[in-house]
Amino acid sequence: MILTSERWRVRRLPIRGESFADDVRSGLSSPPRSLPAKYLYDALGCALFEAITELPEYYLTRAEREILQRESDAIIGAMDRPDEIVELGGGSGAKTRLILAAALRARGAVQFHAIDIAEATLVEASRAMVNDYPDLTVLGYAGDYEAGLEALRLSGERALALFLGSNIGNLERADAGALMRRIRAALRRGDGLLLGTDLRKDPVVLEAAYDDALGVTAAFERNILARINRELNGDFDLTRFRHVAAYDSASGCVASHLVCLRSQDVRVEALDLDLRIFAGERIHVENSYKYDEAEIDAIAADGGFARTKTWYDAERRFALSLLRAS
Ligand code: TRP
Repeated sequence: MILTSERWRVRRLPIRGESFADDVRSGLSSPPRSLPAKYLYDALGCALFEAITELPEYYLTRAEREILQRESDAIIGAMDRPDEIVELGGGSGAKTRLILAAALRARGAVQFHAIDIAEATLVEASRAMVNDYPDLTVLGYAGDYEAGLEALRLSGERALALFLGSNIGNLERADAGALMRRIRAALRRGDGLLLGTDLRKDPVVLEAAYDDALGVTAAFERNILARINRELNGDFDLTRFRHVAAYDSASGCVASHLVCLRSQDVRVEALDLDLRIFAGERIHVENSYKYDEAEIDAIAADGGFARTKTWYDAERRFALSLLRAS
């Protein structure tokens, strides 16, 4: 337990297996180099991601918010008025509040479980939510999805889980199915999952969403190297890395890489690790898979859910699907 008050509590979950240091070592040691995207979200990374959601090119957050603003009451109604809401990776909770407010209107009192890797954001969001909603209680789990789902104990009558923001798209398709099964295992038959998926579309629109003109996404990505410098005493020269986002329509994936512009020798003191990275070499940071309706049905079925209904924004860029645990 790290922090507590009457109506909110945040637990820091133990990190099992690999840690930042281990993951950096194994990810950078041999090509193809990669870094796990969950490490993008330190305090600075969270602030940069919040800025991404305001960018004109990054339509995802606005499109999903548009659907939630229009449909939250209908979603809560379609779920037989859940008294317990669970969320994976909700961040600041700006969109979550639309669902929480609808559930509170329908039920009077609601229990909210928030699982998020970013502890400071989780504490801040929990505090602010109970402050704004007198009939809400919040249990926060500071950890990754796996640890959070394992720690989760449902106690109400009907639960609705939220997995928004196209976060499912950050997993390989097979891993997405495995996570869906984990979510299903934490729920009961009849509980729901509201899944936000970005849709396949024009590559120009997708690549701009992941490589904006202001360079905020590039800064967000390069921050993972800055974090290695800060926390593991590394000496990456950030100016020698460029962020590149490329959409492959066959796989439906926007891949984000850091491309080395000039070769450099890097030392990561805390790992006693020396690297030579050549010009043109790439470090893979994140994938963002896009979905079509058939692919949404496939992961739903794979996870043990059936799709009840899907809502779209007016421009049909983004989909919000209500799935039932079967
Ligand atoms: N879940 C977000 C998405 O896939 C995360 C994200 C947005 C992201 N922009 C990014 C991750 C750029 C890495 C790089 O849309």
